[in-house]
Amino acid sequence: MSRLLKESWTLVEEQQDKLASYFYARMFLSNPQLRDLFPVQMDVQRARLLGAIVTAVQSVEDPERFDEYLSSLGRDHRKFHVTPEQYDVVGAALIEALRTFAGDEWGPEYDQAWRDAYAAIAQTMIKGAENDADKPPYWHAEVLFHERRSRDIAVLTVRPLAPLEFRAGQYFSLECRYQPRLWRVYSAANAPRKDGSIDFHVRSVGAGWVSSALVRRVQPGDMLRLAAPMGSMVLDRRSTRDIVCVAGGTGLAPIKALIEELTRYNRTRWVHVFYGARDRDDLYDLPALNRLANSYPWLSVVPACSDDFDFNGEQGNLNEVVARYGPWQDHDFFVSGSPPMVRSTLRTLAEMQVPAMRIKYDAFGDL
Ligand SMILES: Cc1cc2nc3c(=O)[nH]c(=O)nc-3n(C[C@H](O)[C@H](O)[C@H](O)COP(=O)(O)OP(=O)(O)OC[C@H]3O[C@@H](n4cnc5c(N)ncnc54)[C@H](O)[C@@H]3O)c2cc1C
Ligand code: HEM
Repeated sequence: MSRLLKESWTLVEEQQDKLASYFYARMFLSNPQLRDLFPVQMDVQRARLLGAIVTAVQSVEDPERFDEYLSSLGRDHRKFHVTPEQYDVVGAALIEALRTFAGDEWGPEYDQAWRDAYAAIAQTMIKGAENDADKPPYWHAEVLFHERRSRDIAVLTVRPLAPLEFRAGQYFSLECRYQPRLWRVYSAANAPRKDGSIDFHVRSVGAGWVSSALVRRVQPGDMLRLAAPMGSMVLDRRSTRDIVCVAGGTGLAPIKALIEELTRYNRTRWVHVFYGARDRDDLYDLPALNRLANSYPWLSVVPACSDDFDFNGEQGNLNEVVARYGPWQDHDFFVSGSPPMVRSTLRTLAEMQVPAMRIKYDAFGDL
């Protein structure tokens, strides 16, 4: 099936933008209520649903990796109140769009392969959502604190109004009232607390809609909406291996959550944190990390800057700095940050012969 899916995708790959426009038009025509779920300004190149489905379909034969992801995506999609019938509408629009743009070379074999793959994915998502039926579709959360840490970075603390369970290292899709219907994911920067509050570390990126609102407009008292937690970059308590964390910029958020969880039970595992940014101002949470390192003898922190030559610490990109401190073949790894940073770190770790199964990572965008 995988061959059929990949082969047929090459028939339409170069017309992706047109295919996307057609897909959304088709979907909204057959179910006009669906339009209300999507951003007011639909920029088709940036619209997320189609790209996500295509990626999921292409990975359908890797169920071990994707079942967990798809179940939690289904739970997350409860925020849209998606019904099983709407999954059918989306699936039909997808096949119709593919058929239209692939032209004569499209055949019944391709049609069936996409139908089967989509059905499998939709089924896993629907089941994931059903398993969460006793929970709210999303959580209202009040912003308690908002602190600017640099020109582009803010740390927010929010408190969900109803209990919201998650694990250290996970992330949430969230929406704020300044950008209605635009949902973006942000990692919790703490392990679960008794008072339920959650910290987020947000960097506003270029023309970013949601991140700039979270950094520049949101204030204490504002309400956000959070969807169900996602992500599998969590600690395995059974592992006895020492740990290396590699965090670029606000990629520190989930790493800080993992460290906080470790402070609750760890006595035996050495934990090395490499924390990198362009310049020292972007190392917005270094004082807090240093305090933790002073309190817990198993924790060490190495800060690094790539573009701040007077910085009194490691110089260079994170992957180079991590390599200087190796070898690391016997360690568990957690890597989090921008896609280029995650990509270069994964490449370096592969060169250093760290087994891929010991590396968990979250890239803040498409790898
Ligand atoms: C698993 C995961 C966890 C995440 N956790 C965090 C987190 O804890 N803190 C955090 O700050 N962000 C995090 N992100 C990134 C976040 O989800 C948004 O993608 C980011 O805030 C941009 O959203 P936006 O609406 O502001 O920008 P958009 O309006 O979506 O994009 C605006 C423009 O900026 C570009 N752009 C998008 N992202 C970046 C980027 N990272 N760097 C440079 N340019 C970019 C886009 O290509 C586009 O041109 C995470 C992402 C993922 C996938
Ligand atoms: C197999 C089916 C589906 C998959 C794999 C899927 C996956 C995704 C993913 C990964 C995103 C991006 C989230 C993000 O960027 O944070 C997304 C966005 C979205 N999905 Fe789904 N989804 C599916 C079905 C549906 C259905 C049936 C609906 C019906 C209502 C839906 C509605 C949306 C909406 C409204 C968005 C936001 C779009 C945007 O911001 O441009 N999805 N989907």
